[in-house]
Amino acid sequence: MASKLKALNDWVDDVARLTRPDSIRWCDGSDAEAAALRAEMLADGTLMELNQDTHPGCTLHRSHPSDVARVEHLTLVCSKNEDDAGPNNHWMDPAAAHAKIDALFEGCMQGRTMYVIPYCMGPIDSPISRCGVEITDSPYVVANMRIMTRMGAPALARIEREGTFVKGLHSIGELDPERRYIMHFPEELTIKSYGSGYGGNALLGKKCHALRIGSWQARQEGWLAEHMLIVGIENPQGETHYIAAAFPSACGKTNLAMLIPPEGYRKAGWKVWTVGDDICWMRPGKDGRLYAINPEAGYFGVAPGTSRSTNPTAMETIARDTIFTNVAVTADNQPWWEGLPHGAPATDWQGRPFDAKNGPAAHPNSRFTVSAKQCPSWSPHAEDKHGVPISAIVFGGRRPSLVPLVFEAHDWTHGVLIGAAMGSETTAAATGAVGVLRRDSMAMKPFCGYNYGDYFAHWLSFDKPDAKLPKIFHVNWFRKGDDGKFLWPGYGENLRVLEWIIDRCKGAVGAHETPIGYVPREGDLHVEGLAIDERALDTLLAVDPMGWASEVADIGHYLESFGTRTPEKLKAEQRRVAAALANA
Ligand code: GDP
Ligand code: PGA
Ligand code: MN
Repeated sequence: MASKLKALNDWVDDVARLTRPDSIRWCDGSDAEAAALRAEMLADGTLMELNQDTHPGCTLHRSHPSDVARVEHLTLVCSKNEDDAGPNNHWMDPAAAHAKIDALFEGCMQGRTMYVIPYCMGPIDSPISRCGVEITDSPYVVANMRIMTRMGAPALARIEREGTFVKGLHSIGELDPERRYIMHFPEELTIKSYGSGYGGNALLGKKCHALRIGSWQARQEGWLAEHMLIVGIENPQGETHYIAAAFPSACGKTNLAMLIPPEGYRKAGWKVWTVGDDICWMRPGKDGRLYAINPEAGYFGVAPGTSRSTNPTAMETIARDTIFTNVAVTADNQPWWEGLPHGAPATDWQGRPFDAKNGPAAHPNSRFTVSAKQCPSWSPHAEDKHGVPISAIVFGGRRPSLVPLVFEAHDWTHGVLIGAAMGSETTAAATGAVGVLRRDSMAMKPFCGYNYGDYFAHWLSFDKPDAKLPKIFHVNWFRKGDDGKFLWPGYGENLRVLEWIIDRCKGAVGAHETPIGYVPREGDLHVEGLAIDERALDTLLAVDPMGWASEVADIGHYLESFGTRTPEKLKAEQRRVAAALANA
């Protein structure tokens, strides 16, 4: 098979000449193709069948022990001009980068099959969606892309109609960390990834296309490609408000997107609808509001910590037809991870007999890959081609101190400053130290495909006279008490905070104005039936002017790090907040 599109055939031929696979397979996305691939992977050990009585259709994959997370230090943005990539990215000259990685690709698919995967990010008929083609030598990647994107014949037909697509070339290579790069060439709409078979390094539709290349395209075309979940909150009157929220990796996006209302709310008729759990593409509609789609078709979620008590929706979603990566297994071959209250690990994520001396049984970044259609709260509007209207944008991260449970920006410019100033403790989603506080503007530090200074300016540019922009908020579920424990119960109880947010959008609830924004007063937040003491709540809603003064000064230095690319308007906003704190 080949395509009607010459540009696509030529590229596939070029890649085959470079990588020299034994054979080439064009993926049509059919069930027969998926079944055949699965059988092959079970036969060669790439996949292992889990207990089919308890977990029908579920399989386990163990990645190479040195290949278990995104590798930010090996991820490059290769724009022509180094300044366009910005200090927030690692950069290499495009010609040098191609030469370096093509030398690795040389002959790397000998003895292997090369798969050509046409895919569409977003509903297949949506004008907001964009297509790409990933070429890979990993059948595991094919199986994951089939779940995470709209893959196969319909995507190929759209690509042939449009004539343009993002080119993604991937090989697992030797899985050698010394021979591993994830390179982006935004001006060429091209991605080249070598030496990793894991998640965002290898499923090129996800972070590489939908965020790094996507953000570059979005800036040129006047839209936003963001690291955000999209959730619909339906109140007892039957009104649904959509919220888009940016939290860094492993900071609660999947959980918030699938939230189960606390019992009292459930009885009163509140419902939660999942549109997306990781990535959001938004653009202004004719009415001036921002409309969002989820470019993905599945979830690549963090397994540890997922349980009936924290995320029952996810547990139901992953009960069948799920690929688990790097989890442990029980004696009767069920998947297991830390945080599951029942069962015990017999074999750890590397396939060794479990021994606590070797660390956690499941890798802290172990994952499930599952179709969004299996999610019981999957929104009936998730496939709407024009997207869903966004009422509120929420930023948040892991902040053990200082940052209140929730606050609201004064206006769009202040909201952009709050997003730019986001900080969070690092997690196991990327290699490197865990628990280190770093700035992660809009949760895009690892994913913004261009200079953060230009990105802030792009965000500010949406504030046009006829725009009806969402209100902007900041949340922190991770504030800790003196005992080191979380002060806020989180998970389903986060709906109480979302309720306040939606009521603020409607002008239906009060707040206390502070230099950092509007904060709920006692009584504004509904805490009936919540097991939390007065003192914890006071701490969660307090604003410490001294602590904030030094935080805001630090934000000023951070904005300076992008030099003249940081918009003057954002610097002026930082000075305004600093002055308000000095007078508080
Ligand atoms: P994502 O990578 O941003 O989608 O994050 P997840 O939703 O997968 O959550 C990552 C980790 O944070 C998991 O261990 C969750 O159990 C934990 N988490 C999520 N929401 C909350 C919350 O509201 N409170 C607390 N304390 N932990 C949470
Ligand atoms: P996440 O993405 O860590 O943001 O969930 C997974 C990945 O890119 O590997
Ligand atoms: Mn997630």
